[in-house]
Amino acid sequence: MRSGAKISSIGVYVPPKLLTNADLEKMVATNDEWIVERTGIHQRHIVEPGVATSDLAAEAARCCLKRRGIEASEVEMIIVATVTPDMMFPATACLVQEKIGATGAWGFDLSAACSGFIYALQLGAKLIESGVHKKVMVIGADVMSSILDYTDRSTCILFGDGAGAVLLEPTEEGEIGFVDFVHEIDGSGGSSLYMPGGGSLHPSTAETVAAKMHFVHQEGGAVFKVAVRKMAELSETLLTRNELTAADLDCFIPHQANRRIIQATAERLGLPEDKVVINIGEYGNTTAGTIPLAMNTALDRDRLHKGDTVLLASFGGGFTVGTTLLRWEM
Ligand code: UT7
Repeated sequence: MRSGAKISSIGVYVPPKLLTNADLEKMVATNDEWIVERTGIHQRHIVEPGVATSDLAAEAARCCLKRRGIEASEVEMIIVATVTPDMMFPATACLVQEKIGATGAWGFDLSAACSGFIYALQLGAKLIESGVHKKVMVIGADVMSSILDYTDRSTCILFGDGAGAVLLEPTEEGEIGFVDFVHEIDGSGGSSLYMPGGGSLHPSTAETVAAKMHFVHQEGGAVFKVAVRKMAELSETLLTRNELTAADLDCFIPHQANRRIIQATAERLGLPEDKVVINIGEYGNTTAGTIPLAMNTALDRDRLHKGDTVLLASFGGGFTVGTTLLRWEM
């Protein structure tokens, strides 16, 4: 009989340097009260110059391997979800593979913005479930500070840098692990949240840089409404087709883009606050890093235990939406 797939270990890393709301008050016309009330964010971690996504990803990966007590050489595959790769190519997965010494691994990067980690998780889980691999490392990592315009108060206050890595392995007797997922993309939302410059359409030139096309552009209000509606809608679909209701869930781990988005989504699903993991106050929106960072927070806060029924939900640029149902087996 084929086995299922489960998360067998987790590791996270955020750079030590903090960017607080008080720091931002000195950079743009904003204030702590506005940021906390509208987003729930108090601080973010950001890298020093010269530190890249692969560095954060490698630290998270090392921590994940240490927790599991295995060597990097045992990892068969590395998928790095990111929209801030060190470079256009080689893939950040290759850089991480070299940095941690995962000499037996293949892998690649996956670009799905804030849903990247959930999408990569499904790919990894399917490769375990099919029997192809026994140890897949899935990493969500972003250095958002590298693509932010720190003169644009509507975006620069939102994001931070961070990474999380999980190890996927076959389930043991009696374990369930990954149960089901519903994903959706909607390209019509592309220009509501994007970085227009630096790709093949607008290769970097002095003009594209002068026009700030190498920074994140977002229509915040439009994204907010769709995020709440779609995360709730896909979550409902996933629960219903698995004959579950919100009451059956032990833990809801959503993408951390805005405290109000999380609360509105949880409210639509009928989930009480004590089942919802929120750590945006400490990290801001770390894009592909938010879900593994939030998983780790749930463990630290003793809110996640073996056997728990867990719902993951994400929404991001693309648009991309992801929901995953799993039984926590760590
Ligand atoms: O992770 C990927 C997905 N991304 C998201 O899910 C983000 C979704 N969007 C949001 O989280 C929110 O829309 C924001 C936090 C970006 C903005 O909050 P909002 O409640 O939608 O505010 P708003 O954009 O409607 O702006 C309200 C006011 C405006 O002033 P006026 O026009 O009413 O005078 C803005 O100029 O707040 C102003 N404003 C600020 N004021 C102080 C915008 N940014 C700031 C700021 N500090 N940082």
